[in-house]
Amino acid sequence: MSPELDRRVFGDLSYDLYIVTSRDGDQMNGQIVNTVIQVTSDPPRVAVIINKKNLTHDFISKSRVFGVTVLDEATPMKFLGPFGFRSGRDMNKFSEVQFIEGVTGCPLVTEHAVSLLEAEVFDQIDLGTHTIFVGNAVNTEVVRDGRPLTYQYYREFLKGKSPPNAPTYTPTKQADKSKD
Ligand SMILES: Cc1cc2nc3c(=O)[nH]c(=O)nc-3n(C[C@H](O)[C@H](O)[C@H](O)COP(=O)(O)O)c2cc1C
Repeated sequence: MSPELDRRVFGDLSYDLYIVTSRDGDQMNGQIVNTVIQVTSDPPRVAVIINKKNLTHDFISKSRVFGVTVLDEATPMKFLGPFGFRSGRDMNKFSEVQFIEGVTGCPLVTEHAVSLLEAEVFDQIDLGTHTIFVGNAVNTEVVRDGRPLTYQYYREFLKGKSPPNAPTYTPTKQADKSKD
């Protein structure tokens, strides 16, 4: 059981928003995450935190590779929707999106991208609902000048919410249908 916590404190933590991708054979998938961090400098490693229910989790677990798109602040809500609120189990998220295939085979979304990164999984930690995948960065690319989309901008200006599979989901408040 979780102790009684003032969950507003978690809202003070800062993140950017990304699309994390992976593939399984011919199938490609990707999802919005706020949880990409660089965890070491030498060698450069990044961690991503993915809900076990997500198709992207299945794909990273199998292929042991993932791609990351750093999204631009100007990314419209309409573009974020399928990646953040729909599952690749129900739709092909790549049918109308610009992307390139990276050196790992991962699709890398270039639309609304500031920069791209690919990683090979080096280790993982089971967190219960989620897994932390830690990867060695094997490819990086700057796409265009731009300001990365922050979680704060997403909440304040795009009026965006956090769905249940996001680590930042607030169960009690959203169950009450009050604002997050
Ligand atoms: C703002 C935002 C942040 C999110 N952050 C994460 C995250 O860090 N990890 C995660 O597993 N899901 C996160 N999600 C939820 C996934 O994007 C969502 O569950 C997605 O539909 C999973 O798609 P898939 O089943 O095709 O992989 C986030 C969603 C939004 C809108």
